[in-house]
Amino acid sequence: MKKIAVLGYGVVGSGTVEILYNHKESIEKKIGESYEVKYILDLRDFPDSPYADKFTKSFDDIVNDKEVDIVVEVLGGVKFAYPYVKASLEAGKSVVTSNKELVAAYGAELLKIAREKDVNFFFEASVGGGIPIIRPLNQCLSANKIDEIAGILNGTTNFILTKMIKEGMGFDEALKIAQDLGYAEKDPTADVEGHDTCRKICILSALAFGKHVYPDNIHTEGITKITLEDVKYCESIGSVIKLIGYASEKDGKVTIMTCPAVIDGDSQLAGVNDVFNAILVRGDATGDVVFYGKGAGKLPTASAVVSDVIIAAKEKSTTRMMSWEDSEQNFIVPESEISNSFYVRANASKADVEKLFGNVRYLSRENAPSGEVAFITDVINEKTFAEKCSNIDVIGSIRVMNY
Ligand code: HSE
Repeated sequence: MKKIAVLGYGVVGSGTVEILYNHKESIEKKIGESYEVKYILDLRDFPDSPYADKFTKSFDDIVNDKEVDIVVEVLGGVKFAYPYVKASLEAGKSVVTSNKELVAAYGAELLKIAREKDVNFFFEASVGGGIPIIRPLNQCLSANKIDEIAGILNGTTNFILTKMIKEGMGFDEALKIAQDLGYAEKDPTADVEGHDTCRKICILSALAFGKHVYPDNIHTEGITKITLEDVKYCESIGSVIKLIGYASEKDGKVTIMTCPAVIDGDSQLAGVNDVFNAILVRGDATGDVVFYGKGAGKLPTASAVVSDVIIAAKEKSTTRMMSWEDSEQNFIVPESEISNSFYVRANASKADVEKLFGNVRYLSRENAPSGEVAFITDVINEKTFAEKCSNIDVIGSIRVMNY
């Protein structure tokens, strides 16, 4: 009988236990063996839970119990998750995690320990919630050279942007609903400032291009500066604003960024709304492949966790399939050299705009105050764009992308 320990009984942890027990019979058939959740680690008390007898407040109970085969880490953060996951792997236990912060910061190291100990370290739920993306990227698409990945990778911000675009709802109200629905991180700053998307694109980039990308080294921008005015201007040309994480590889160098982007209303990512995520993977053999589904929430994320548990229970040494090298940062293209078109909203005359940016495409909105212009530039690199912007009164700018 397989014994499982679940670290954390929050949104994803409780969903994981729920699926493990609601679908026990069918999952046991898939594994070919029975299982039980032996421990649930949480500092809080759950006296009325049907699993009350399984709770412990001591990680030592788990790591020192030789019967525990699989540890599920759904604590979030790295303060406790990192030492607990590391100790579990070193104790010869397979680990399944939904923790993108952990994988983005320590993935290379933890995969190495798992290989040395011949156990599994799986993290399907760390990117895209319920969407299968880690294993498809690592296995089903492994015949390709991956040229590019671009995605809407954060359910909370996509939910907020959808409410702003479709209902004209204010930012704070939309965020509160996303929190109530259990989509947001404990500290939603990680969602709205883009850190969560950044961690996820770093994980996908490491898998696709084979080298660890540290989140602190890449440009990360969230959605807090997006206004309803920007939404309206973009609407006038049939475009929408989405928070995008993208990474592309050329000649051994990776271009990677997290930022809001103006994208065409007909593009594959434009119609991805609410808590849904979508990830476009461009392979040299497949062309574009798009993965779509619920990117956050209790049961979608728990679904990915439990699928990893099933594979970890069936196969002990599959981590060999999944790995990337730790790395220097010199394979990342410096931000100043990255080029895009830009949407700009400014207090300026058209003559000043054209003197700086040449021919631009102007946008309009109802009730725009006199003196305000909005326009889209030609493709220009970040450094030149910043220099030009220092010469006019820019209210806001957003990159324009073609996905
Ligand atoms: N806070 C994350 C999101 C949870 O909104 O996408 C799933 O990773």
